[in-house]
Amino acid sequence: MKIFLDTANLKEIKEAATLGVIDGITTNPSLLARESGDPEEILVEICRTVDGPISGEVVATEAEGMIAEGRHLASLHENIVVKIPCITEGLKATKVLAGEGKRVNMTLVFSPTQALLAAKAGARYCSPFVGRLDDIATPGMELIADIIQIFDHYDYDCEVLAASLRHPLHVVEAAKMGADIGTMPASVFNALMKHPLTDIGLKRFLEDWEKAKAELAAKATR
Ligand code: G3P
Repeated sequence: MKIFLDTANLKEIKEAATLGVIDGITTNPSLLARESGDPEEILVEICRTVDGPISGEVVATEAEGMIAEGRHLASLHENIVVKIPCITEGLKATKVLAGEGKRVNMTLVFSPTQALLAAKAGARYCSPFVGRLDDIATPGMELIADIIQIFDHYDYDCEVLAASLRHPLHVVEAAKMGADIGTMPASVFNALMKHPLTDIGLKRFLEDWEKAKAELAAKATR
């Protein structure tokens, strides 16, 4: 599974990128609004930091405006993927932009039928939101499973991008289901490598090693 960071924070992105396992970045208007600075400049800087798909979202809600914004976003950097909300106007815009060879990430997907239509319109990625469904007592992971099952029957060139992943178990479940991509905040990403037994085990290895070295040194001086 490809791992994307869901953030527009350059510090977080630069830190995580040093690990060499970040495949792309997703942003949205809320995430960009949290940062100070020009959103387009931030997007371009993200593209320079991570050489993978970088989603930048349109804010227009009519197809015409979405298409114009999408063209502009795509012109900023070759890594930019145009993120478009999964509404009727968004579907029209996706069809046009995909026809021009631009990569579209259909976002705010909450049902299998929305995902099916996104794929048919030519979206390169579709982003079902797991955590936000869990928030309303609807099992978010079941949506991921449904979409994967549907896409498995056909040849759509549309990757399942599991979004709104809120904790490591969401990541595990998405990977077990075969989601193409999981996008997560830096806090979730940072938790993926942590295990207390690894820390305890490493501490013990190093202590044993130091003890053995000290014993060898003591023997040598006898
Ligand atoms: O990628 C979608 C993500 O930003 C939504 O996450 O936690 O706000 O539901 P969340």
